[in-house]
Amino acid sequence: MMSFLKVLHLVACLAALSRVQVDGRQCRCLYGQSCWPSDAHVALLESQISHPLVYPVPPASACYTEGPSSSNCSDFLANTFDGRWRSDQAGSMQSVNWETHIFGNGTIDACYSNTALGFPCEQGSISNIGVDVRSIEDIQAAVKFASSHNLRLVVKNTGHDYLGRSTARGSFLIWTHRLKNITYHETFVPVGAGPSTIHSNAITLGAGVQWYEAYDAVEAHGRILVGGLSARVSVGAAGGWISGGGHSALSPSHGLGVDNALQFTIVVADGRHITTNAHSHPDLFWALRGGGGGTFGVVTSVTYQTHPSIPLVGAFFSGNFTSPEAAKGVITEFVRIQPSLAEAGWGGYSFFDNSSLNAFYIALNTSWEAANVTWLPFFDFARNASTDSPGPQKLTVPFDSFFSWYQALFSGDQQVGANVYLGSRLIPTDLVQSDHEKVVKALLATDGVTSWHAIAGGEVSRSNPSSAGINPAWRKAISHVVVFEGWGEGAPVAVIDAAKQRLTSKVNKLEALVPGAGAYFNEAFPFEANPQRTFFGPHYTRLRLIKLQYDPKGLFVVANGVGSEDWDPSLNCRR
Ligand SMILES: Cc1cc2nc3c(=O)[nH]c(=O)nc-3n(C[C@H](O)[C@H](O)[C@H](O)COP(=O)(O)OP(=O)(O)OC[C@H]3O[C@@H](n4cnc5c(N)ncnc54)[C@H](O)[C@@H]3O)c2cc1C
Ligand SMILES: *[C@@H]1O[C@H](CO)[C@@H](O)[C@H](O)[C@H]1NC(C)=O
Ligand SMILES: *[C@@H]1O[C@H](CO)[C@@H](O)[C@H](O)[C@H]1NC(C)=O
Ligand SMILES: *[C@@H]1O[C@H](CO)[C@@H](O)[C@H](O)[C@H]1NC(C)=O
Ligand SMILES: *[C@@H]1O[C@H](CO)[C@@H](O)[C@H](O)[C@H]1NC(C)=O
Ligand SMILES: *[C@@H]1O[C@H](CO)[C@@H](O)[C@H](O)[C@H]1NC(C)=O
Ligand SMILES: *[C@@H]1O[C@H](CO)[C@@H](O)[C@H](O)[C@H]1NC(C)=O
Ligand SMILES: *[C@@H]1O[C@H](CO)[C@@H](O)[C@H](O)[C@H]1NC(C)=O
Ligand SMILES: *[C@@H]1O[C@H](CO)[C@@H](O)[C@H](O)[C@H]1NC(C)=O
Repeated sequence: MMSFLKVLHLVACLAALSRVQVDGRQCRCLYGQSCWPSDAHVALLESQISHPLVYPVPPASACYTEGPSSSNCSDFLANTFDGRWRSDQAGSMQSVNWETHIFGNGTIDACYSNTALGFPCEQGSISNIGVDVRSIEDIQAAVKFASSHNLRLVVKNTGHDYLGRSTARGSFLIWTHRLKNITYHETFVPVGAGPSTIHSNAITLGAGVQWYEAYDAVEAHGRILVGGLSARVSVGAAGGWISGGGHSALSPSHGLGVDNALQFTIVVADGRHITTNAHSHPDLFWALRGGGGGTFGVVTSVTYQTHPSIPLVGAFFSGNFTSPEAAKGVITEFVRIQPSLAEAGWGGYSFFDNSSLNAFYIALNTSWEAANVTWLPFFDFARNASTDSPGPQKLTVPFDSFFSWYQALFSGDQQVGANVYLGSRLIPTDLVQSDHEKVVKALLATDGVTSWHAIAGGEVSRSNPSSAGINPAWRKAISHVVVFEGWGEGAPVAVIDAAKQRLTSKVNKLEALVPGAGAYFNEAFPFEANPQRTFFGPHYTRLRLIKLQYDPKGLFVVANGVGSEDWDPSLNCRR
């Protein structure tokens, strides 16, 4: 008679067998399944790459006695809100909810920093094994391995993604963080271009370079770059940021990231390393500029146009208001002046709700006098509606460079390490021009803080809408508005679902304000009703054709990305 254990074993084997058949036909192979590569296969991969394989773990694992960890608990707790520290950990995401996995039955698999919550430390959605790539050959070996073993492949750079696109439960990881090469070009001729196509002062950034490193590199040449801005500036300069579009306070004067990219190099699904620019593989070059990260291959470098570093003026506004009516009055005036600010090259960030407004903007190559002519009337307008605490809250300040401005504002503080979902929409300039009061009324009705990113208009709207794959809605927009919802660590699925519901209602209000206007893929609602239309607009069809050409088997799949509609919600099985 067979023992109970033997029966169990047999049942497990049969289950595995049928799963392999299903897997072979339509599903990715996940870690823990019998189809997962054997130790011998893994050892063969390891013999082909330059550095040992990585086995990512949740960063909070350092605070649990069981199992491996990537640091110690005091180090983790001291750095858990720091974007640079998190980006250095293969298993860390910047928004910690993406480290967790919610099963269909509502159970959450996670590793929480608060050990007192009493949950065990689990792997969640963190990849189980990966390649810490340092060379093109490493990437090619990893891509071939994932492809030949039918693995769920994830490309991760810094882990800043707000849609969870740089992690997946049971996946195999390509980690680009250590591709730190930087080359400055006094003159740059794109591969395949005639010798008369010469760009001066360009810079090539390896896929793992982060914005603080890129800003340092161009500062040494008296130049600036259109790039991301956040606490400690840890967003990747050549990964998801540029693939989704890339916005900056400098965008109204110099365009989006995609408008400044001259060339990409990329390893595609069949393992080829190719160069894409306006002359060579121009279709892929078009798609990589806005078609989304993790979709067309593994980008290995991006070459950007730089701009001269010249003095700028910063404008700062901070006000708490005497009543919701007073707040509405000031915010209405603030939104009314946005199109003229963008035309004059002003870009920046603001946050408001029915009791306060905070804003910080910059403009290059403007005099302090001219900046005052622009801003002082608004400051005066707002003053008697404000209940200011003592100190300067509404002022203009000259800076000698973008570099000194960004260092003054973004060197400290901590911005990541929380559970958060965003929702967003691009607000058209003509809507603000025709009815700015309606815009403000709708934004205040979302109940809570609206983040108004003044990073469109001006030069962004002067590019040909079909020049890059990015949603052409960007070219008509004056701002990218973001709303959000968060929740506490360890919250049960019902609490998370309630946050998702509140955010759905906010996003629906934004959609009602601007039907069909579109949204920025990189800072967006992960549960959009129509992601293709919302994130890519009329460019979707062409993006999909290019995706099919370079990745016919769908090796690169990310949530809401081009081609993701071919897969079920887990992105592991074809529909
Ligand atoms: C604190 C914070 C500040 C931000 N500030 C800005 C800002 O100022 N401007 C702005 O436009 N956005 C900003 N963002 C959004 C940011 O652009 C996105 O989070 C973006 O996805 C980050 O890209 P990453 O490569 O750093 O991160 P990751 O999460 O590692 O990657 C994001 C996506 O890109 C893919 N990817 C990464 N590298 C590669 C590669 N080499 N090849 C192919 N695919 C790749 C991944 O697969 C994933 O799909 C910010 C986000 C955060 C959290
Ligand atoms: C924790 O790690 C940090 C960084 O590696 C190190 O400086 C520190 O000494 C370690 N602390 C302990 C208690 O091991
Ligand atoms: C939920 O599903 C997971 C995965 O199948 C399982 O491990 C867990 O025990 C289930 N939890 C409950 C409460 O049923
Ligand atoms: C980085 O630069 C070095 C030195 O030029 C070069 O040998 C190496 O191939 C480069 N690495 C990548 C990934 O491009
Ligand atoms: C600055 O503006 C002046 C005119 O206002 C213009 O002549 C000059 O070229 C600009 N400089 C740069 C670097 O943009
Ligand atoms: C500011 O004060 C003036 C006169 O005291 C008043 O008419 C005006 O409505 C106030 N503005 C705001 C925004 O409250
Ligand atoms: C507004 O209120 C917040 C919180 O009450 C306070 O921290 C901030 O200093 C106030 N700002 C101004 C400009 O008074
Ligand atoms: C500009 O306005 C500020 C107040 O924000 C003032 O201190 C400064 O003197 C003004 N500068 C010029 C050149 O007028
Ligand atoms: C102001 O906002 C808060 C929180 O978002 C909300 O509860 C309150 O109802 C709002 N008040 C008005 C008058 O809109």
